[in-house]
Amino acid sequence: MKRFAVVAVVLFASAVFAAEEAKKEAEDDKAKTYRRLIPADVLRDFPGMCFASTKCATVEPGKTWDLTPFCGRSTCVVSEDKPPRLLELVEDCGPLPLANPKCKLDEEKTNKTAPFPGCCPQFKCEDGAKLEYPEIPTVAPVPEESAPAASSTPKA
Ligand SMILES: *[C@@H]1O[C@H](CO)[C@@H](O)[C@H](O)[C@H]1NC(C)=O
Repeated sequence: MKRFAVVAVVLFASAVFAAEEAKKEAEDDKAKTYRRLIPADVLRDFPGMCFASTKCATVEPGKTWDLTPFCGRSTCVVSEDKPPRLLELVEDCGPLPLANPKCKLDEEKTNKTAPFPGCCPQFKCEDGAKLEYPEIPTVAPVPEESAPAASSTPKA
């Protein structure tokens, strides 16, 4: 009887442990990417187009380009305010985690030459260790039309 109780406790504990592990992996796999809107670069001779400096080319609204050699991508966007403005929606890997001796860059998963977001660094931690990310400072003024829900900023 007593032995049965011990076995039950051990089984329960390992089930909880397995669930925790699964949860941790799911969190680790979630690519952390960040988006922000900035005024687009526009060339005098190409109004209505975004200038992609990393490509040295103009890009139509709605089109996306890669930010190689940086890990990220940008999309040319026309704002909905009047008069409309050209904006660049920048997506990148966000800030690096705070240094943690128990976590290392996962060389197998990180492919610096892959297109975004595949090029974002992936980290591997020892059991129990968890990476912490710096607080993201509130970024540059976001154009009004995309900031109605400022109070519902998702919590990290
Ligand atoms: C990294 O990504 C590039 C571009 O997608 C691909 O050609 C290459 O095979 C990848 N390397 C590895 C190790 O996965």
